[in-house]
Amino acid sequence: MKAQNIDLEYLEMESGHFPFLKEFWEKTDGINLTIGDTPEEIESYLKRNKGMSFICKEGDALAGTILCGHDGRRGFIYHLAVSRDHRNKNIASALIELSLEKLRSAGIRRCMIMVDEVNLKAKSFWLKMNWRRRDDLKMFSLDL
Ligand SMILES: CC(C)(COP(=O)(O)OP(=O)(O)OC[C@H]1O[C@@H](n2cnc3c(N)ncnc32)[C@H](O)[C@@H]1OP(=O)(O)O)[C@@H](O)C(=O)NCCC(=O)NCCS
Repeated sequence: MKAQNIDLEYLEMESGHFPFLKEFWEKTDGINLTIGDTPEEIESYLKRNKGMSFICKEGDALAGTILCGHDGRRGFIYHLAVSRDHRNKNIASALIELSLEKLRSAGIRRCMIMVDEVNLKAKSFWLKMNWRRRDDLKMFSLDL
């Protein structure tokens, strides 16, 4: 049976959280900070996708994060991360559900997540969550 923690608090992510977020993401295995992760870019992302990204806290400690937004057609999730000390307490599932509910309310019918090919734990996590692995797709990108 899973440990339950009544002191967990879920909050909308705000740009003021950024200093804690950066430190958190930098030390979390499986999270790659990249183009788009400066404070200005995260702030602009949060403004454009208001109320769709969340953090989970236990007291003053950051326990988890999810960045979520959409382009009017598809939803996207980035930086789903739970601290090692807080894993297996359904925090990721709760963060995902909070964001998916926002996407549903915005009329978005499909959500995508990009997973690093070598992140085996993340791949098994998304399969466990019943997300469909898209072997029919390959990602291409261009830096502008
Ligand atoms: C992947 C991650 C977000 C999971 O967070 P979590 O809060 O421990 O996950 P949850 O407790 O919500 O787990 C939900 C379910 O998935 C299962 N699960 C958790 N991690 C799993 C994994 N790596 N593989 C398979 N199943 C997993 C849990 O046992 C639970 O199943 P249950 O409901 O039947 O008991 C966390 O391990 C993490 O932050 N990893 C590093 C960052 C990362 O790789 N993020 C993903 C980027 S795409």
